[in-house]
Amino acid sequence: MQKLIIQGGRPLHGEIIISGAKNAALPVLCAALLTKETLKINNIPALQDITTMLSLLEQMGTSITDHRSSEVSLTAANLTHLVAPYEMVKTMRAAILVLGPLLARAGEANISLPGGCAIGLRPVDQHIKGLQAMGAEIHIRHGYIHAVAKKLQGARIVFDIVTVTGTENLMMAATLADGTTILENAAREPEIIDLANCLIAMGANIQGAGTDVITIEGVQTLYGTEHTVMPDRIETGTFLVAATAAGGEIHLKNTDSRLLDAVLDKLTEAGACIDANENWIHLKMDSKPKSVNLRTAPYPAFPTDMQAQFMSLNCVAEGTAIITETIFENRLMHVQELKRMNANIEVEGNAAIVYGIPQLDGAHVMATDLRASASLVIAGLIAQGETIIDRIYHLDRGYENIEEKLSALGAQIRRIN
Ligand code: EPU
Repeated sequence: MQKLIIQGGRPLHGEIIISGAKNAALPVLCAALLTKETLKINNIPALQDITTMLSLLEQMGTSITDHRSSEVSLTAANLTHLVAPYEMVKTMRAAILVLGPLLARAGEANISLPGGCAIGLRPVDQHIKGLQAMGAEIHIRHGYIHAVAKKLQGARIVFDIVTVTGTENLMMAATLADGTTILENAAREPEIIDLANCLIAMGANIQGAGTDVITIEGVQTLYGTEHTVMPDRIETGTFLVAATAAGGEIHLKNTDSRLLDAVLDKLTEAGACIDANENWIHLKMDSKPKSVNLRTAPYPAFPTDMQAQFMSLNCVAEGTAIITETIFENRLMHVQELKRMNANIEVEGNAAIVYGIPQLDGAHVMATDLRASASLVIAGLIAQGETIIDRIYHLDRGYENIEEKLSALGAQIRRIN
């Protein structure tokens, strides 16, 4: 199994390019199931989750051509196998995103029910409830969601809870339904706007994406198009936190500061000087960071996917911070690993109280999920001595060439088998 070895204590300096967003690319790939024509997608990140999604779509009968570094063309002319097997769904929950498109286009889908995962229970009841409201017959059999609908019908759906992939799944399903679908209490994440832009370019009629009410007028057919995936706001935020914690000056290209308001506010509060526009972000940090309190919540509030990284920053900041996780019930697993690096953190329910200390100690730690892995990388960068991170396959699911990008910024980081 591969590990990362980091020698801590070096500031970060230099320029890197941010990759396309994993959580925008995954639903956009699934949109290819909605048309017989070719969907060409640019700015696809080279990540394990993308490889898994492409294999899943290929198994269903999608032909994948022109798969070069960051581009791929998908043609789902004939869908032959309407199944997402357990082996794939268990490694990548986003496989649930094929449910809506398959049902809308082929009238049937058999998707393994995702179980709980490292960060929480993560049920998919809202996806199922929405599709049932659109007329689908859904039964859970042998651990699979078996869904059938001759033709989905437009419906008014009020989500009980704000769900990102739930909103994406139903938005895709509604594009080919009969009549109008109104999604209320919809998620407002930028990835939903990116997916909506792709679907609109394919011929869909969608209004309100990016607000909490999305209206979709079903159309008969969708067509091929070309789409460029938005920049990864979480990768961007992770590098910005790393430089705020380690000190230095970094310039991030191919990213957009407007996607990160809540994160940039917190970094400024921590003491970073930030200059930015819609194409790049420049960050300079030449003092010890100050502690920042934060509370995760759906977009545009502070993202749960940045909580773990800010935990590492707070470990070495001046003062005490309270971090409250409100989205997932078990997303504080990194605390135990950070404590192995001498961090002073107390957990009470869904909150962590982080008492800043002068320095972390390098240690052998284990990644438990994707963003927890990123927090350990940041901790390794600022710790005294050597940090070894195990189970970095989590990291490879969501960060393209992380050790190359960090090395380009002057970090001492290498991968070993
Ligand atoms: N929830 C339900 N029922 C549902 C759906 C969700 O109770 O039917 C609950 C979840 O258990 C959770 C909350 O609603 O407590 C929000 O979950 P959401 O559905 O929004 O999460 P998701 O769509 O499964 C996406 C991202 C996650 C990110 C969350 C929250 C993708 C592929 N994944 O997950 O990204 O943390 O939104 O912003 O878009 C990551 O990239 O590391 C990652 C976990």
